[in-house]
Amino acid sequence: MKKKRDFFVITIDGPAGAGKSTIAKIVADRLGICYIDTGAMYRAVTYKVMKERVDFKDADKIVTLAKNSAIEFKDGKIFLDGADVSEKIRTRAVTNYTSAVAAIGEVRKILRNFQRQYAREKSIVMEGRDIGTVVFPNAKYKFYLDASLTERAKRRFMELRQKGSNISLEEVIADINRRDNIDLNRGLCPLKIPSGAVVIDSTNKSIEEVAEIIIGYVKKNR
Ligand code: DC
Repeated sequence: MKKKRDFFVITIDGPAGAGKSTIAKIVADRLGICYIDTGAMYRAVTYKVMKERVDFKDADKIVTLAKNSAIEFKDGKIFLDGADVSEKIRTRAVTNYTSAVAAIGEVRKILRNFQRQYAREKSIVMEGRDIGTVVFPNAKYKFYLDASLTERAKRRFMELRQKGSNISLEEVIADINRRDNIDLNRGLCPLKIPSGAVVIDSTNKSIEEVAEIIIGYVKKNR
């Protein structure tokens, strides 16, 4: 069995659409470690709030709901209270409401505890908005992934179109712009470049190039 000190954490933070999930998955696969998508955790709680018709202004109820949620990652899927919600948490409504849920300090605390728990049992790649700043400020490998607003919106637009959505590029730009503003300006755990993080601008880089930069850095510094 591996000793605790052999486990390591790779954090990847950055704005919506910077390619964090795709890259984090590749990095985790190639290094043979686990991938945790923390945005999916905030989305899962939001999905539950909507399903149970809780008022988004009722922070106390939302906190209770988050406390009583079992969130698990298995085979690249996310399970909420035992049910696979991987697709259900990707709707536009869930995406838009998640900002409100992610702004509740107590919810962040609950999810942060789950997130730290994962790293006690194995090596992980964890991506989100506050992973290198708040969840694992002492992680050995920290990355901040960015890309221009237009490039991020174009990538998200293609993804949504492939899934059959008829959303326009302008709507995607507006959604991402709005989420950037919330992520960057919220009082609690705003999106910031973590100290000591390697910053990668992926605007003109392929997924493969970015993954290689991260894997190369980790191997060089092990
Ligand atoms: O990465 P994503 O689009 O799936 O994130 C969904 C939402 O959750 C987004 O509004 C930002 C928020 N989030 C957060 O506040 N902290 C994290 N660590 C991850 C996501």
